[in-house]
Amino acid sequence: MEPEERLIVALDVSSAEDVFYLLKKIGQPRCSVKVGMELFYQEGADMVRRLKDEGHFVFLDLKLHDIPHTVYRTMRGLARAGADMVNVHAAGGSEMMKAAIEGLDEGAAGKRPVCLAVTQLTSTGQDMLENELLIHQPIQKVIAQYSELAYRSGLDGVVCSAWEAAAIKEQTSSTFLAVTPGIRLANDAAGDQRRVATPERARQLGSDYIVVGRSITSAENPAEAYLRVANEWRKI
Ligand code: C5P
Repeated sequence: MEPEERLIVALDVSSAEDVFYLLKKIGQPRCSVKVGMELFYQEGADMVRRLKDEGHFVFLDLKLHDIPHTVYRTMRGLARAGADMVNVHAAGGSEMMKAAIEGLDEGAAGKRPVCLAVTQLTSTGQDMLENELLIHQPIQKVIAQYSELAYRSGLDGVVCSAWEAAAIKEQTSSTFLAVTPGIRLANDAAGDQRRVATPERARQLGSDYIVVGRSITSAENPAEAYLRVANEWRKI
């Protein structure tokens, strides 16, 4: 895959109209995109089909977490809709993750979509882990354990911070994918992201794909911002 295809723009909007307006401003007819819950729950699988018809690589970020049978059937449908990349919560356990892969295998017309695990949401901190979820372990250890569980369950990689990519690959395999949000251009505000990295730093740290939202979509000139991110990401 070309580096540009491994630069995924987060389409964090809630209507098809806003998607196509944003894509027009970005000016990359076939850029890779991420569809999250906000958009999917408004526009449904038709949004995925439309983006695929226009030639986009589509990461469907729905973070499934349910009983194995439900995840199996849902993944079968999402693969049929044409998603290229999907994800689940590793907290759903190994049986659920294996069921996800089975569903994707069955629903895919050609190549099975890439399936990633979410280990811990970036909004979860040590306090919440201990006091609300009653998990009395350092969060980094929990992330490492969930990554290994995902690897052993046959998943292709994890969504993680660029700063965690090397440790996760060391624990699993160099081919286990690190898909990393929390990317910012040097002068951008971090916003609600905690551990940010520039596209260049993410590449150096071992990210396989970067997911970029506001640095491109909220830029004064999204087309120029996209090119800046792409240039840094592809080692210019
Ligand atoms: O605007 P920004 O670049 O921060 O957007 C990052 C995208 O990645 C958002 O769609 C966000 O929901 C998503 N994401 C994240 N952290 C995770 C998983 C997904 O920021 N751990």
